[in-house]
Amino acid sequence: MNGRKGTILIVGSKKSSTKLLRRVLPREGYRCEERTSAGETLTFLRDGSTDVLLLDIAGLGKSGKELLARIVEHYRDVMVIAATNTTDIDTAIEYMSQGACDYVTKPFNVNEVIHKVGKALENRKLEVTHQHCQKQLNEKLGEQAKEMQETFLRAMTTMCSTFEAKDQYFAGHCHRVTEVAVAVGERLGLREGELEDLRWGSLLQDIGKIAVDPYVINKVGQLSSEEYQHVMTHPTVGANIVGLVVGNTRLIEVIEHHHAHYDGSGLNQKLKGEDIPLLARIVALADAYDAMISARADRTAWPRDAALAEIRLGSGKQFDPVVTEAFLKMCEADTMLKRRKILIADCEESTRLVVKSALSNDYTVIEVTNGQEAVEVTQNQEPSLILMALSMPKKSGLRACYEIRASSATKSIPIVILIPGHKDMDEKLIRDIGADHCLTKPLDTKSLMDAISQFLKIPSS
Ligand SMILES: [Fe+2]
Repeated sequence: MNGRKGTILIVGSKKSSTKLLRRVLPREGYRCEERTSAGETLTFLRDGSTDVLLLDIAGLGKSGKELLARIVEHYRDVMVIAATNTTDIDTAIEYMSQGACDYVTKPFNVNEVIHKVGKALENRKLEVTHQHCQKQLNEKLGEQAKEMQETFLRAMTTMCSTFEAKDQYFAGHCHRVTEVAVAVGERLGLREGELEDLRWGSLLQDIGKIAVDPYVINKVGQLSSEEYQHVMTHPTVGANIVGLVVGNTRLIEVIEHHHAHYDGSGLNQKLKGEDIPLLARIVALADAYDAMISARADRTAWPRDAALAEIRLGSGKQFDPVVTEAFLKMCEADTMLKRRKILIADCEESTRLVVKSALSNDYTVIEVTNGQEAVEVTQNQEPSLILMALSMPKKSGLRACYEIRASSATKSIPIVILIPGHKDMDEKLIRDIGADHCLTKPLDTKSLMDAISQFLKIPSS
C-alpha cells in the first residue's frame, strides 16, 4: 500500500460504495483505510498518521456530528471532508460550519474525491505553514518584549546605582543586598525564574527613592515622623515605576513589600507573615543586614557578629523565621569556608574560569597568571591549596613548586599540578616536582571537586 501523498481514512460508508476508492486512491499515492464506527475511528486517529478523513454523514447518523466535534477539538491537523447524498447538501454545509473543510456527494465520483482530497492536503499544508510562521512570530515578539524589559531593568539599575553612588554610605548597597538575597534564595531552593526575579527585585528595591526629597535622603541623624513616612513611600513609588513597563507581578511585589515586617508591624503594612511574598521577605532580611554592617554618617558599621545576633533576635518579628534560619546557616558555612583560599596559577584564562565557577561560591579563589606571582601570593596569603599549571611565563610552575616547597612557611600547602590532557605523568614524577596530585586539562569539575575534598578534608554536605 502506497502512502507517500498521505493517509485517507474513510469513515461510515458501506464497503460496497467505497470499493472503487480503495482501488484508485492507493494508485494515486494515498494510503487508504476504512472504519465503520466513531469508536474505531478515534482509536485509529491516535497514531497520528491520518491526513484526510472522509466522513459519511448518513453512515454514522447522529454520532457523525459528535465525531466531527472530537476531531476538531483533538485532531486539528486532520482535514475532514463530509460525504453526503446529493439530496442532503444542507447537512454537508452544516458539517462545514462545524469544522469540515469540504464535502463530496455520493455515490462517490472518484475524480471529485481525488480533487477534493488534493485540495484539502494543499490547504492543510498552507495551514501548517501559517501556524509555523505565527509561532515563530510570537516567539520573536516574546523575545523582543523580554529584551525590552531587560533593557528597561538594566537602565533602572544603572539609575539606582548612580543614585546610590552620590552617597558614600549607600554606594553599592543594592548590589550587596542582591548578592546576599540570591545566595539565600539558592539555599532555599528557589527555581531559576524566581531567582531571576529576586535578583532584579533586589537591584531595584530602592528605585522609588528618586522621588524622595534629597534633603530627607541626605539628612544626618534621626528622621522626624513625617520624614520617615515620606522615605517609606519609596517601595510603592518604585513598584509603580517598574510596573509601568514590566508586567512581572512577582518582581514588582519584591519592590513593593521589601520593607514589610514578618509580624505585620511595619509602617502602613497591609500584609503579614507568609502573605508577604517570599522574595520580598528575603530582600527585607538582606537589606536590613547590609544596612547594619555598613557605616552611616552618624554611626560606624556594626561588627558582623553583632549584626547576625540582631537578625537572630528579629526572627519571627521583623524577619521570616525560615529565611532567617537559611541566612544564618549560610553565614556559618561561609565563615568556615571563606577562610580557605585556593590559588589558581595558570596563564590560560579558560582554566581559571573553570576553577572560579566551580569554587568561588564556597572559597576565596585567588588568580595569578605566572609562576613568579604564584610564589609571592603563596608567601603572602598562605592559600589552603594551590592549583598550578607547569607552563607559565616569568617563572614556570615547576620552578614555583620547588620554591614553595623550599620555604618552611609554605612547604606543607597541597599543590595540584595541571597538565595538558595528552600528557601522562606518573606518581613518582609528580612527587619529584614537589606536587601532591595531578589533574589534566581541560579540567572537569568533578575531578576538581574530588581533589579539593581530598586535600581540604571538607565533609560533604
Ligand atoms: Fe528600601
